[in-house]
Amino acid sequence: MKNRLVLVTGGTGYIGSHTAVELMNEGFDVVIIDNLSNSDKSVLDGIAAITGRRPFFEQFDICDKERLADFFKVYKKLDAIIHFAAYKAVGESVEKPLMYYQNNLTTLMNLLQGMIEFNVSNFVFSSSATVYGQPDVLPVTESAPFKSADSPYGNTKQIAEEIMRDVVNANKDLYAISLRYFNPIGAHPSALIGELPRGVPNNLVPFITQTAIGIRDELKVFGDDYNTPDGTAIRDYINVVDLAKAHVVSIQRMIEGKSKRNLEIFNLGTGKGSSVMEIVNAFEKSTGEKLNYKIVGRRAGDVESVYADTKYANKELGWKAEVGLKETLLSAWNWEKYVRNKKR
Ligand code: UD1
Repeated sequence: MKNRLVLVTGGTGYIGSHTAVELMNEGFDVVIIDNLSNSDKSVLDGIAAITGRRPFFEQFDICDKERLADFFKVYKKLDAIIHFAAYKAVGESVEKPLMYYQNNLTTLMNLLQGMIEFNVSNFVFSSSATVYGQPDVLPVTESAPFKSADSPYGNTKQIAEEIMRDVVNANKDLYAISLRYFNPIGAHPSALIGELPRGVPNNLVPFITQTAIGIRDELKVFGDDYNTPDGTAIRDYINVVDLAKAHVVSIQRMIEGKSKRNLEIFNLGTGKGSSVMEIVNAFEKSTGEKLNYKIVGRRAGDVESVYADTKYANKELGWKAEVGLKETLLSAWNWEKYVRNKKR
């Protein structure tokens, strides 16, 4: 879509940067707001190298309402907002709950308020399959009930969806789509952008690539006594570029007036569950690297198995995850090698 401007908050982050690229590939203009609290400005160079264009960039914290109002006054004609900017570390949220509620909910409310004041109609929110907890029925559909949240982080996603529901009910000109991500992994095939965790990674795939490259001694596999075929926990790992593309079609859906309700919710997954050991084996096969790993006890708060029912997203969005697991793991590995070479 030409001459359409989309605000991407958190656009220098992992999923935000991949989404900025896919939007620009589809002809959208992009303005990023990011406070760089968990990302690096050099990501903009990666986006420019891939797309041949540079997104507009504004560095500030969306918690600052006055600064945000100034932004809306300058960028008058926003067609949509995609909101990624949020804290996302589960363990940290348990230690610092107020920091999570303060940041994740204030940014959301400031943006929604700004949309009402400055007449922006379309909003996409970065939600998570964490809202389902351990679902009673698998694969899990969008109508499965919320389970009580395991962490303040998870709770911010549940509350955020409730806030959006109330706000669109009261403002019928607003349209929102909440995208519930399963486990996004991998990097852009160019290896010019990818996931850049600070410190020790919490998530499985960055831990695997850092172990394979020698930054970590060994991967700890958290639990092999789950009620699954090989005893390790099952997740639905989705390629980050596939995930990014779902944001583009969500924006197009809203701009074209195809939304069926003011708040729509979609699962973003592949529909296929993989165990931790299946990921380890697939990584070794696709990269030819040997991975040092050890089975240890379960990680607190982990669920046994969760994977998406993708029928609704496939049908309504006309979108489907396409990139296979091995190719995705290879992209994560190529990115890890690129990052380490650059640092040398
Ligand atoms: C986690 C969060 C989830 C969040 C998502 C964001 C928890 C409990 N859940 O999902 O709320 O939305 O990240 O990306 O933290 N594993 C290992 N060894 C490791 C790391 C992970 O065996 O070093 C296992 C885990 O036990 C799990 C699987 O790998 O079974 C995936 O873990 P992870 O990548 O952290 O994602 P989730 O826990 O599913």
